[in-house]
Amino acid sequence: MNAPAIPGYTHDDPALPASPVTAEDLEQLKATVLFGPDDEAALRTAGEVLNGQIEQVLDVWYGFVGSHPHLLAYFSTPSGEPIAGYLDRVRARFGQWIVDTCTRPYDDRWLAYQQEIALRHTSEKKNKTDHAGSVPHIPLRYLVAFVYPISATIRPFLAAGGHSEEQVEAMFQAWFKSVTLQVALWSQPYAKPAW
Ligand code: HEM
Repeated sequence: MNAPAIPGYTHDDPALPASPVTAEDLEQLKATVLFGPDDEAALRTAGEVLNGQIEQVLDVWYGFVGSHPHLLAYFSTPSGEPIAGYLDRVRARFGQWIVDTCTRPYDDRWLAYQQEIALRHTSEKKNKTDHAGSVPHIPLRYLVAFVYPISATIRPFLAAGGHSEEQVEAMFQAWFKSVTLQVALWSQPYAKPAW
């Protein structure tokens, strides 16, 4: 795959540290969310369906964040002024994440970037990638709660590809499982020994 030149997107950077989450931890988490080969296949199809709709998906998600001041605050200065450049740069990586969720193998490199994304939501790395003057930390409770809107809002886009209701449902379930799995991974730096 040709990784597009997205500022701050370091998925394929050899300098990325390995994740503290092991391949075995990942397998057990996958089993816990009932994520299997059928879901991988459904996500590949979802990737084809979503490709070409990425900007529209992002419009929905950004509309959702933008209409909730308590969420927009995390893309804003401490005094509450939204930072346009920060919103834009994160948006480009968010778009790539949609593609990666559907098309990347969930291997050690993917795990390493999962950890990087996790850290970028915490005071350890938030704002650093984009040199943003925003608030330093996103509370874990909002990451967990976001699983619902990030899943529910994808369904109409999955349905737009002309697939049967059964296939759309399979893509939706696979997406929901993957987002749940990823947020479980992202809780690692928040919880550390408790993880
Ligand atoms: C960054 C996804 C929850 C605010 C990102 C990125 C992705 C992402 C893919 C870019 C990662 C990269 O740099 O490559 C998600 C998903 C969530 C979630 C799937 C939950 C299901 C939240 C919540 C907020 C939030 C609840 C707060 C409103 C941010 C911010 C960044 C970011 C501010 C930029 C962090 C930085 O400074 O690098 N998110 N996110 N995210 N997200 Fe989230």
